[in-house]
Amino acid sequence: MRSSPLSLLISIISAITLSHAMILSTKDLKCGFLGCGTIAAAIATGLASSSDEEVTFSHFHVSKRSASKSAALLSRFGPDKITICESGDNQEILDSSNVIFVCVLPSQLEEVLSKVKFDHERHTIISLVSTSTLPQLISLSSLPPTSVFKMICLPSVATHDGTCLLVPKSETVKKILLPLGGCVGCESEDIMTKMMIPACLMGPMYAIMKGNLDWMVKNGVPAEDASYYIGRTYLGIAKDAEAKCTDPKHFTDLIEEQTPGGINQQAIENLTKLGALDSYDKAMDKILERLTGRGDGKA
Ligand SMILES: NC(=O)c1ccc[n+]([C@@H]2O[C@H](COP(=O)([O-])OP(=O)(O)OC[C@H]3O[C@@H](n4cnc5c(N)ncnc54)[C@H](OP(=O)(O)O)[C@@H]3O)[C@@H](O)[C@H]2O)c1
Ligand SMILES: *[C@@H]1O[C@H](CO)[C@@H](O)[C@H](O)[C@H]1NC(C)=O
Repeated sequence: MRSSPLSLLISIISAITLSHAMILSTKDLKCGFLGCGTIAAAIATGLASSSDEEVTFSHFHVSKRSASKSAALLSRFGPDKITICESGDNQEILDSSNVIFVCVLPSQLEEVLSKVKFDHERHTIISLVSTSTLPQLISLSSLPPTSVFKMICLPSVATHDGTCLLVPKSETVKKILLPLGGCVGCESEDIMTKMMIPACLMGPMYAIMKGNLDWMVKNGVPAEDASYYIGRTYLGIAKDAEAKCTDPKHFTDLIEEQTPGGINQQAIENLTKLGALDSYDKAMDKILERLTGRGDGKA
């Protein structure tokens, strides 16, 4: 089959963008942060304190914004690692970095990105802005799609305990984010939205623990003892759940490990009969409706 000029052009462009993707190495990275608030400071702290030898960071350039946070980074990691952009000109941060974390508020995104110029040869951007979409980021930055990423994480990345969600998939970017506490690459933004749901079930988890506490206190257990014991016991349970979590069968195995006819098995049966486990499915549907803007999650 003869290739048309258009398909030839497309293959040349994809060859160029592919070779670009390979330029991003995982050694001596220079990270720039647009915004230096809660999440930017947490990511910079997690990466700057990483002992991962596969991924090395030579420098971090941060906005002077949220001065107490940027100053804290400088005092903890020193001028060899951290530079605060004193001029307030975000272009300076771009000019000295190759990986740019976009950490401003949703309302600030358009203004911040439209005032700077990205370099196709050098820049990869990773947006933390919850409302940003890949097409919007590509259009605002004029970067090729292979250089534009969206990431979701919690501030616990500062202590390497936050598992990041990344879209689109990229082995190189995933490697860069691994020191933050793990990273899952998502096939699409749609899949990423569904991956966000367990983090939205943090509140209910605490509510279960509070329910346990109230019940124990009502039944005569001293509150301090109950609280300490619940916190420590659930930690042990969570550690077992995490141990082999790379295997999707692991949770089923843990359920099957419960003593046949024992009290844990009874509790599963009772809660199933009472509809408690099914109600989680329904709550997850409602959370998804709200995350995708298809409803207010109430009905
Ligand atoms: N907090 C979280 O747990 C979390 C988790 C995941 C994602 N996110 C996302 O991350 C983004 C930031 O959230 P955050 O909680 O870190 O908010 P934040 O603490 O308010 O941080 C926003 C930062 O942007 C700075 N900024 C504002 N305008 C700027 C400009 N023109 N140039 C450079 N910097 C500018 C602010 O500086 P000033 O303070 O000086 O105005 C501040 O440092 C949001 O879009 C949010 O959706 C947050
Ligand atoms: C709880 O489970 C036990 C053992 O399976 C069963 O005997 C009991 O009827 C169940 N109670 C409820 C309320 O489901």
